[in-house]
Amino acid sequence: MSSHEYTPSSKFGKWFNDRLPLLTLANHLTDYPTPKNLNYWWTFGGILTFCLITQIVTGLVLAMHYVAHADLAFESVEHIMRDVNYGWLIRYVHANGASMFFLAVYIHIFRALYYGSYKSPREVIWIIGMLIYFLMMATAFLGYVLPWGQMSFWGATVITNLFSAIPLIGESVTHWLWGGYSVDNPTLTRFFSLHYLFPFLILGLVILHIWALHVPGNNNPIGIDIKKPSNDTVPFHPYIVIKDLFALLIFLIIFAFFVFFSPNILGHSDNYIEANPLVTPAHIVPEWYLLPFYAILRSVPDKLLGVIAMFASIFVLVILPWLDTSKVRSALFRPIYKQFYWFLVADVLILGYMGAMPAEGNYLLIARIATAYYFIHFLIILPLLSKKEKTLDIPLSITEPVLGGMPNPAIAKEDFKLKSLG
Ligand code: HEM
Repeated sequence: MSSHEYTPSSKFGKWFNDRLPLLTLANHLTDYPTPKNLNYWWTFGGILTFCLITQIVTGLVLAMHYVAHADLAFESVEHIMRDVNYGWLIRYVHANGASMFFLAVYIHIFRALYYGSYKSPREVIWIIGMLIYFLMMATAFLGYVLPWGQMSFWGATVITNLFSAIPLIGESVTHWLWGGYSVDNPTLTRFFSLHYLFPFLILGLVILHIWALHVPGNNNPIGIDIKKPSNDTVPFHPYIVIKDLFALLIFLIIFAFFVFFSPNILGHSDNYIEANPLVTPAHIVPEWYLLPFYAILRSVPDKLLGVIAMFASIFVLVILPWLDTSKVRSALFRPIYKQFYWFLVADVLILGYMGAMPAEGNYLLIARIATAYYFIHFLIILPLLSKKEKTLDIPLSITEPVLGGMPNPAIAKEDFKLKSLG
């Protein structure tokens, strides 16, 4: 039954639903027609929703015990680790949860790049996604400052200092961000406040993201438009629900491995040393998920241009639907795009590695080449491919390659009967 025809079976349900159609919404979500060929790369949206909720719940509990004051923050984190019941678990789930969240979001983004999910009519889903991603990076950066370890303090110093590159007003902006003349207690308290706020903004954007998704419906591995509901779709419940849950289980096993066997492997040991404004660490590095951007930032010799390049690297993604105008969505039918897709994956991994290395010698040279290639991919290669690439033939429907030229054998049979009668 399609959602607009839905009427609740109980009298109370009907009474309530007429006043607030929550049951109609629930019915829409369970019946939502989903392409039947979705592969496991499509389970990451659900996994990301789980990650966001986990970060919010564990964060709330941490906030009950954490003290946002420069003199007490470091100690309060140690208190959580040692004295609070299961505090170590909650903190490790939250810290490793941030990494798992980024792992999932990178898979989700690269899935969209491979299957052309950012293309019309899904541009708004994509742009909301980019806003979410930007807020995720901001939230992670703010959160990393809260334990007030050496990397927290010096990471905050490096990143906030970037604003001083803005001509004329840069210094005032930086002082305004700090709430003083250096990263100090006022900086910590405002970072805590914003770190608490942003996940709820992300939650609001996720609701819009899924709403925007439900307008055109899901893209799919072969990237064709499909009729909904049809022989090409299955209802979201139980088919996708059970598949998403299975994928989540596998994801949780990997997550648990980090939390229970290697909880600090993704972090930096210097953050177990309390912040000291008088001692600068040998290498100031961000968390792994920000490294490619850090590499782009440092590969440009001028501070202001470096900051511009870093923001531009995100902005080219925002305008991607207008850079890649090929009518064919999925890389499966775009042989040359597919090659360049893998070059881009390699390029981003190289940038990430260079971001972790000192910005000197060959490391710097490679980071510069990789930065240039990143922009060449989006600004030159994709627009050219959109015009020149010879794409492969696309099936008429999802079932066509399996069942032959008939998109819907039942309908085709009826059609045949009618034709032979007439
Ligand atoms: C908190 C973070 C996010 C959550 C909870 C989330 C959630 C979802 C969900 C549930 C879906 C549908 C299932 C799926 O396709 O996997 C989806 C689809 C999509 N998401 Fe996200 N998302 C997030 C971040 C992002 C980001 C950062 C981007 C890209 C910039 C993005 C781009 C897309 C696109 C283009 C689709 C349509 C997929 C298709 O049907 O091919 N999302 N998202």
